[in-house]
Amino acid sequence: RALAGAPRDLAGRRVVVSAGGTREPIDPVRFIGNRSSGIQGYALAKVAAARGAEVVLVAANTALPDPAGVRVERVGSALEMREAVLKAAASADAVVMAAAVADFRPVTSATSKIKKKDADDVPRIELVQNPDILAELVGRRAPGQVIAGFAAETDDVLAHGRAKLARKGCDLLVVNQVGEDLTFGAPDNAGVVLSASGREREIPRGTKEALASVVWDEITSLLT
Ligand code: CTP
Ligand code: CA
Repeated sequence: RALAGAPRDLAGRRVVVSAGGTREPIDPVRFIGNRSSGIQGYALAKVAAARGAEVVLVAANTALPDPAGVRVERVGSALEMREAVLKAAASADAVVMAAAVADFRPVTSATSKIKKKDADDVPRIELVQNPDILAELVGRRAPGQVIAGFAAETDDVLAHGRAKLARKGCDLLVVNQVGEDLTFGAPDNAGVVLSASGREREIPRGTKEALASVVWDEITSLLT
């Protein structure tokens, strides 16, 4: 079982998990968001806590209750997530980026609600790229710190995953297939854990907690 009777092999470890989808403000009432439910990230936090870790969960938008025994820091946008994650990561043994961080944000957020005008006068939202938090974590990684990412892909899952792992420079990348009814908001998940060492471990479809357990197994094997 992922939770009850879990090994206490993360006792004395500090870990950071990010979860949920960021919201990039357009104006005070609107945002650009994504379909991440946060369930996988919350499962990672719960399982780590059950295995004895001190957990900081940096949560972007989710509809989930705070897991017991976990410090939850709520954030909205990718920039807020970056600040919270980098701060918490400074003293962490492991960081797992399970959040769906928006790749782009509106250049500016209007200070008052954008109003409708004539049908041919439609606002254009100019976007700018958000910082890559995972890449920044890798860039400032402390010796021995283990860093893992997630990659949701719709096609060529393994090929995209391998290329992404190499590009990001993290220790582990969990890849899974998304789309239609797969993964988003669902209680179950499946995937492959790709390691920088070349190791590839397939995780059969099961609960998101079961997948989280395998991810922590892989992380634990890298912790010194
Ligand atoms: N990530 C991040 N900061 C970003 C974007 C992504 O930290 N600005 C992290 C995610 O949390 C995830 C990993 O990077 O752990 C991979 O995210 P993904 O969106 O699959 O990768 P991208 O590099 O953004 O590539 P893509 O063009 O496929 O979206
Ligand atoms: Ca992305």
